[in-house]
Amino acid sequence: MLKEIQVCLCIFFVFSFGVFYELSQEHSCLFSCKPVSKQLLTPKDVMIQGRSIIFLETTENLQPRPLVFCSVESAARIYSERPVIFFMKGLDNHTMGSVSSSWSSLSFLSAMKNVFLFPLHMETLFQDTPLLSWYLQVNATLEKDWIYIISDAIRLAMVWKYGGIYMDTDVISIRPIPVSNFLAAQSSQFSSNGIFSFQQHHSFLWDCMEDFVRNYDGAIWGNQGPFLITRVLKRLCDLIDFKDTEDQKCHNISFLNPQRFYPIHYKNWTAYYEVWDPIPQFNTSYALHLWNFMNEKDKKNVTIGSNTLVENLFRMYCPTTYKRLSQTVEGSE
Ligand SMILES: *[C@@H]1O[C@H](CO)[C@@H](O)[C@H](O)[C@H]1NC(C)=O
Ligand SMILES: *[C@@H]1O[C@H](CO)[C@@H](O)[C@H](O)[C@H]1NC(C)=O
Ligand SMILES: *[C@@H]1O[C@H](CO)[C@@H](O)[C@H](O)[C@H]1NC(C)=O
Ligand SMILES: *[C@@H]1O[C@H](CO)[C@@H](O)[C@H](O)[C@H]1NC(C)=O
Ligand SMILES: *[C@@H]1O[C@H](CO)[C@@H](O)[C@H](O)[C@H]1NC(C)=O
Ligand SMILES: *[C@@H]1O[C@H](CO)[C@@H](O)[C@H](O)[C@H]1NC(C)=O
Repeated sequence: MLKEIQVCLCIFFVFSFGVFYELSQEHSCLFSCKPVSKQLLTPKDVMIQGRSIIFLETTENLQPRPLVFCSVESAARIYSERPVIFFMKGLDNHTMGSVSSSWSSLSFLSAMKNVFLFPLHMETLFQDTPLLSWYLQVNATLEKDWIYIISDAIRLAMVWKYGGIYMDTDVISIRPIPVSNFLAAQSSQFSSNGIFSFQQHHSFLWDCMEDFVRNYDGAIWGNQGPFLITRVLKRLCDLIDFKDTEDQKCHNISFLNPQRFYPIHYKNWTAYYEVWDPIPQFNTSYALHLWNFMNEKDKKNVTIGSNTLVENLFRMYCPTTYKRLSQTVEGSE
């Protein structure tokens, strides 16, 4: 009798191990080889392969504008095999578990299989980087552009530590970027820091963090942002003016043509909120930067039925955001 039970148990264990094995294979190690629920993964688990797309919200705001949703959703669609991570300062450890119940607008993002929402722990992030000494000394309340300055710092540390692509939350992805170490030119001989990508521990970002601390001046707009990236790049290579749609190369860093992300110049940013006929193809671009910073005063919106360029971009590249927006409009009428 005892022996029969043992045989039974043994068969049962072999069988359940087989099922478990099958399940873990199905998971295909996309983000982690451990078959665990998404809620239990830490940023490190998810970012370990250095292939993440990284977004940041450095204010406490937990109700992003539609453009932010579109930015994250479009990246999640274009990079469906890579983790897309949205770090939000307003999510502390406490609220993490209740994201789906408390903020229905955020739960639509976290329901996408490759999107992860994480809180932002700055002190841990800056550990073991040149930025920590600066961060511990600076008095945030005295810095008029603090949310921009801290965002400039975080993106450098984040990509240095984990590798991957950083994107501003007003960038709409339209096709995959084929290079992994790149900076985006905003115009000839000038780099932006609204989108860039590096492998983990690339020395360019270490140089940027050192320069950030050495030449820190919070009173000068962009001094820790595009101007920093441009001056470190210029120390490394002689930049020339772009010809047509060619990219440049600086050691192993691609310096991508303004057409790739900025086919519409910032001086023309309102063009995104106008009607275009026909709708441009942007076939030499990988993503479109919508210059939300320029929009702070006007607060132009995506209006359903307006047939503006931005509405058409939403319809094409972030259809779920678009659908939700249409429903909100209907609901309020
Ligand atoms: C939140 O979690 C992180 C990582 O697990 C930990 O380092 C930090 O101390 C926690 N913060 C709070 C306020 O509990
Ligand atoms: C930061 O500056 C404010 C305004 O001057 C001051 O009240 C506060 O004590 C300062 N904080 C630190 C940590 O020095
Ligand atoms: C690119 O250059 C950096 C700095 O010289 C180096 O650390 C890195 O390994 C290089 N990457 C590749 C893929 O060659
Ligand atoms: C803005 O758009 C106009 C008309 O499309 C174009 O002629 C002009 O060159 C653009 N300006 C910049 C700075 O790209
Ligand atoms: C890009 O689109 C334009 C028309 O919008 C077309 O004339 C051109 O051939 C296209 N270029 C490529 C590389 O597909
Ligand atoms: C855009 O939408 C926001 C929030 O829905 C609203 O506060 C703002 O007034 C709108 N702006 C315009 C120009 O309609």
